[in-house]
Amino acid sequence: MDWTVKNPLPEEGRTISFVGKGGGAKSTTLAHLLKYWKAMGIPAIAHDADDSDQEEPGSLLAWTEMLPVHSDGLGSPVYRAPSAPSLKTEVDRLRPPHGLSLIDTKAWDRGKQNSHLAAIRSSDLLVMALYPSGMEKARGASILGAMDEVETMSGHRPRLVCLLTRFNPTAAAADDVRKELEAEGIDVLATEIPASESKTGYAQSFGTAPKLKAESDMHRLAKELLTEVTR
Ligand SMILES: Nc1ncnc2c1ncn2[C@@H]1O[C@H](COP(=O)(O)OP(=O)(O)O)[C@@H](O)[C@H]1O
Ligand SMILES: [Mg+2]
Repeated sequence: MDWTVKNPLPEEGRTISFVGKGGGAKSTTLAHLLKYWKAMGIPAIAHDADDSDQEEPGSLLAWTEMLPVHSDGLGSPVYRAPSAPSLKTEVDRLRPPHGLSLIDTKAWDRGKQNSHLAAIRSSDLLVMALYPSGMEKARGASILGAMDEVETMSGHRPRLVCLLTRFNPTAAAADDVRKELEAEGIDVLATEIPASESKTGYAQSFGTAPKLKAESDMHRLAKELLTEVTR
């Protein structure tokens, strides 16, 4: 199958950060997306800004280090992100022409937020990954607050979209959360990533090479994000 698409990205490329609480499937989703963008012919580089304090095992870097050395890994390189003050410069410098820089961030918490502020400042698009838990409003509010802070300091405000992940497709939860977020003025991506706990599902995929499947939820997400980041 021919996966390639017409590359819609401008010469200078675009940067997307994944933000949100731990367990929102940021790293898992990014690992799969890298593989799809590679197949689609979109140049990419990922920056792992999750300098884990053990709270979040399974960083993107740890994932690539588990893949066989003779494989092409996740398809695109994964670098350890520099400290907050250098993040934007490095992400801009390393982004391939007509390509994507992706930033995987650590869990959102109320403490020191320098790494999140730096990711927001470096990005054209923020993807807030969350699974239905009843805390959606609070989460959205704290990210919007950080975006206000970045805008005040730098004049830059990326676009924010929400990605519903790890939800149980048999419960109506995703629909309720979608409505709640949209009522708050937060755009929710059309593509949703359901919980998949099977042996070959996302939950078991850490450290393995993601398998491509045409028109799967991840494939649709890879395409939707390309559209979102260029509109
Ligand atoms: N779609 C999914 N369905 C079920 N489990 C998932 C899914 N995506 C990720 N997971 C699991 O959820 C946990 C958190 O995922 P992870 O990608 O590490 O989140 P984050 O990077 O946001 O902390 C991991 O155990 C992972 O295997
Ligand atoms: Mg992670």
